[in-house]
Amino acid sequence: MNEAALGIFDSGVGGLTVVRAVQDLMPGEDVIYLGDTARLPYGSKSPETIRRFADEDVAFLVGKGVKAIVVACNTATAHALPALKERYCLPIIGVIEPGVEAALTDRDAERIGIIATRGTIGSHAYQHALATKRTGLMIHGAATPLLVPLIEENWISEQVTKDVLKKYLDPLVEKGIDTLMLACTHYPLLVPVLKELLPSDVRLVDSATTCAEDLRRMLSEKNLLSEKTEGGSLQIHLTDLSEQFEELAKRFLNRSPGRVRRAVFDEVRPGI
Ligand code: DGL
Repeated sequence: MNEAALGIFDSGVGGLTVVRAVQDLMPGEDVIYLGDTARLPYGSKSPETIRRFADEDVAFLVGKGVKAIVVACNTATAHALPALKERYCLPIIGVIEPGVEAALTDRDAERIGIIATRGTIGSHAYQHALATKRTGLMIHGAATPLLVPLIEENWISEQVTKDVLKKYLDPLVEKGIDTLMLACTHYPLLVPVLKELLPSDVRLVDSATTCAEDLRRMLSEKNLLSEKTEGGSLQIHLTDLSEQFEELAKRFLNRSPGRVRRAVFDEVRPGI
């Protein structure tokens, strides 16, 4: 089982930020990635729909014989992780706990801003996880639905993106946040422009690296780490193949994604 691949999924291309962190930390692990590009975005869908999609994503990866699964989508983690853990017996981790862990490594963090999709903010999953881990925090969540399309257009440093960011961030800055959680797979790509726009003492936190560290710890505890220390492969499956995927994937992964396969879900499953 140790030499089986890891399964990682997201609604689209954003979860490749997590793949990158996982491969940096555990270069010997094989990874099978699923991007549900035919049905993205998840961020604007209802909790029931997101749970159904996430269940089908996991079933696809389980069918590929993976040894563990990472839900590399904040919205899917927020709405579906508990149900997925209950339904499947292989280890499954999400990105919220690692993100919260990363935010709270700073003992002095008191005022935490969260930017994410409407679905993630509406679920209160981050707010709840933070408040459970530390009392007395001031937590301010902001739904920032325009950011994913701007990032996918590669309009990272365009003025329009800065204007949109300012509109979203000003209320958080006025509240005096000391930490900003980038609670969406795509947002790590905004770090340079966020640094330009935010006061220099606001700490930026994303979950990709901490998620990879949590995954390694969990694999090690369960004796599931690969013996290989290099040469891990990456196999990408998408539910819709588009022309712009390769260019987008390169930005998220920092290298060519290689051959991409079309994912086909083979049966209609009873919902969770
Ligand atoms: N992957 C989603 C997330 O992290 C963002 C894109 C979408 O809305 O599907 O929340």
